[in-house]
Formats: sequence, C-alpha cells, structure tokens
Amino acid sequence: MESIIDKLTSLSKRRGFIFQNSEIYGGLASTWDYGPIGAELKKNIKDYWWNHYVHMRDDIVALDSSILSLNKVWETSGHVQNFSDPLIECKDCNARFRSDALEISKGVCPTLKCSNTSFDDPREFNMMFKTNIGPVVSDSSEIYLRPETAQGIFVNFENIINTSRKKIPFGVAQIGKVFRNEITTGNFIFRTREFEMMEIEYFVKPQDSEKYYKEWINNSMEFILSLNIDKSNLRLREHEQEDLSHYSKGTTDIEYKFPWSWAELQGIANRGSFDLDSHSKSASKNFSIFEEPTKTRYTPYVIEPSIGVDRLLLITLLDAYNEEKVESNNETRTVLKLSPKISPVKVAILPLSKDQKLSELSKKIQRDLLSKGDLGKIEYDETQSIGRRYRRQDEIGTPLCITIDFDSLEDNKVTIRNRDTMLQERVNLDSLHSTLIKEIKDY
Ligand code: GAP
Repeated sequence: MESIIDKLTSLSKRRGFIFQNSEIYGGLASTWDYGPIGAELKKNIKDYWWNHYVHMRDDIVALDSSILSLNKVWETSGHVQNFSDPLIECKDCNARFRSDALEISKGVCPTLKCSNTSFDDPREFNMMFKTNIGPVVSDSSEIYLRPETAQGIFVNFENIINTSRKKIPFGVAQIGKVFRNEITTGNFIFRTREFEMMEIEYFVKPQDSEKYYKEWINNSMEFILSLNIDKSNLRLREHEQEDLSHYSKGTTDIEYKFPWSWAELQGIANRGSFDLDSHSKSASKNFSIFEEPTKTRYTPYVIEPSIGVDRLLLITLLDAYNEEKVESNNETRTVLKLSPKISPVKVAILPLSKDQKLSELSKKIQRDLLSKGDLGKIEYDETQSIGRRYRRQDEIGTPLCITIDFDSLEDNKVTIRNRDTMLQERVNLDSLHSTLIKEIKDY
C-alpha cells in the first residue's frame, strides 16, 4: 500500500507544492524546490511565525544575518569541535551511515540487499559545509556555511542592545537558510542538507532561566497547536543529560508522531551563558549587563526555541491530509484541511463555464477582491469541469471557492463553497468581501 509520505510526495509534484531539485538531470537526492503553491505555503508559515512572535509582542526584535561568517565564530561557538555525528562504515559494501541507523536496523547494515554485520569503529564526522571565499582555492580560503542562525544573533549582541534599547528579558528572532552535511537524509523534506530555520534567542537573568525555559516550551506548543495540528500527534521529550548539545543546560523537544516514528519537530534549549561567555572571551568583549538596583553585573542566559520551516511545513501537510468518501457521488476526495492562516490559496474564483459574460463578471470579482489586498492569494480558474476544479482546490487546501453561474448575472449573487463541510451558501456581491474575511477568520 502507498505510504502517506509517498502520497504527499506525488501530490506535491502534481499540484506544485514541492519538486525534486535538478529533476530534469536525474535529481539531486534529498534536495527539494518549492513550486508555486508550496512557495506560498512556506511564505505563509514564515509570515505567521514572524507576526506571532515579532509583530504581536514588544519584547522581540528582528535580525537578518549572513550565511557566511569568520571561521572564528564557529571555532568559538564549539561547532568546529563538536558539531558532528558518529559515522559508521560497513566493512562489506562500504556504505556510510549515522550510528543510530544501526540501532534501528538491529545491527545489520541498513543498506538494501546488504546483510553484513561487521563495521569499522564509529568516527566523528563534522556536519558543517565548507566552501572557499575569493578566487583562490586553498586551505586559508576555506569558510563554513552556517549550520544554525543563532550565532549571528550572539555575535551581534552588543550591536542589538545598543540600537534596540531593549532591556532583559528580550528576544531576537531570525529566519534563514542553514546548511548541514547530514550523513543520513530522507523522508521527503524531514531531513535535508539545506533548510530554513526560525529561531529566537531570548535573553534572561540567570535566576529566571528555568521559568522562561518552561514558558517557551508552553508557548511553542501553543503556537504549533494554533495551526490546527492534532494534539494527539504532539508530545514533549526532555533530553537526558548525556544527550545534550555542547552548549545546552537543558533541552526539550516537541516531537511529532511521523508515519515512521516519533521524531523532533522543534527544540527548546536553555543555552545558559555559554555562547555570550565564549564570544566575549574570544573577542575580548564584555557582554555583561549592569543591573542598577543591585549594582551587580551578570551575563544573560538565553532560552532558544528553534524550529525548521520545512519540518513544520511537512507536519502541516501530514496533519491536513485526508481521504474522504463523498456520499453524494460515492467517490473519494483528497482534501488538505490546512489552517486558512497558512493556506497557499485563500479563495478560488470558479465561473461555471467559459461563457464570456461569466468570465467578465468573474474577472471583475477577482480584481475587486485583489484590490483590497487583505485576502492573500486569490486564484482564477475556468478550465475543466467544476467538479475537477473543486478537486484541485481541495487538494491544495483552499478553504473557500466562489462559483459564478448564470443566475449571478441576474441576481448579483455568487455561491461560496466551504472546503471542509462542502456546504454552499449564496451571497450578495455587496457583502462578498466581508463574508470571505469573516469565514476565513471563523474557519
Ligand atoms: N540553534 C539550535 C539548533 O540548531 P537543532 O535542534 O539542531 O537546533 C533546530 O535544529 C530545528 O531545525 C529542529 O528542531 C528541526 O525542526 C530543524 N532541523 C534540524 N536538522 C534538520 C535537517 N537536516 N533538515 C530539516 N530540518 C532540520
């Protein structure tokens, strides 16, 4: 039977969510491009996150730092030394994989058709990508692509404090591309070598760090639930002491029940003052804060909620994917019950036929709605039968479709169809915009 990941991969290609990168040349493994519909979904997810954390609060400011930095940044942050995974090589087929793959395959080489059970000793493999800066390719021109956005925030700490006038507690948010030379990739966009991250570094007094750590775990969970994700598919998992990253005093993952197993969706870490201390020592800077009432200095601790855009997008697709029996025609429809907050297309305008008068009225309705600028993407489609067009909109998760028929030419009314209930209501054109806004809000 086709797995849900296979179904989503094929729906993504068919409807323009996600394409295999370099497909026309055979495809670059585990590398994906977002198509016209997927790019809208991804942007909506980032905008929703940004609005929620940066625009709707007064204690979080923005940053957009570079992918490239001096190597000193990664030496000081500990990534050169510690950002590695244990790599194992099969003595028979020479395949290389992460050592945890062996636990899952119960000690047998996980490569298809290889049944070998002896391997070289694990060795640490650093996952940072390297490139060369400038026209000369040499050891001294080697530079890393960032594996997280967080360091851009730490090395700009002084600049941000001086320009934003924020007082502790406050946070810095950043969305951006990161690169990791993962040993094992796969499961569609779950683990890739190039992906986007949404991170906040929230600076607090050391004695308040436990309180804020718990607060960020809770509000991160609430944020994910606000995208209509099924609560029973989410759980918290606190890392054991010995599994913590080199910078962490405590980490909790929000895990999602993926089709293959529970796995990390988001990490919330208490990084203590590790990063600010390391950079202040290495750059001979003083990042401590003077507290007037107690006349004392302290280096802030930082709480870090960090989530991959692509992984969040994957769970919105997995959670929204439904195949339903339609009683009226005994067919099965595939429908993505995405939250309208992030739906790639909010409204589709579908004239019943290609009749010129219907087209003219429908295009005018689209122009009027587009000119309001507050509904997001509004599609116009007059090709194929109305049933097929509804099916396409269901598959890309469009919450509302507007049908314009011959009666519309007489009575100035159109039909709004709800994606989830498939109920239809007739609405006067004068109140169409306000009705759509209300229906999307109440969805
Ligand atoms: N600055 C903290 C940090 O980098 P992380 O747990 O390594 O933490 C944060 O990564 C998030 O990025 C993860 O929770 C996950 O959502 C996403 N992520 C990590 N590795 C990924 C990969 N190879 N492909 C896609 N997303 C990934």
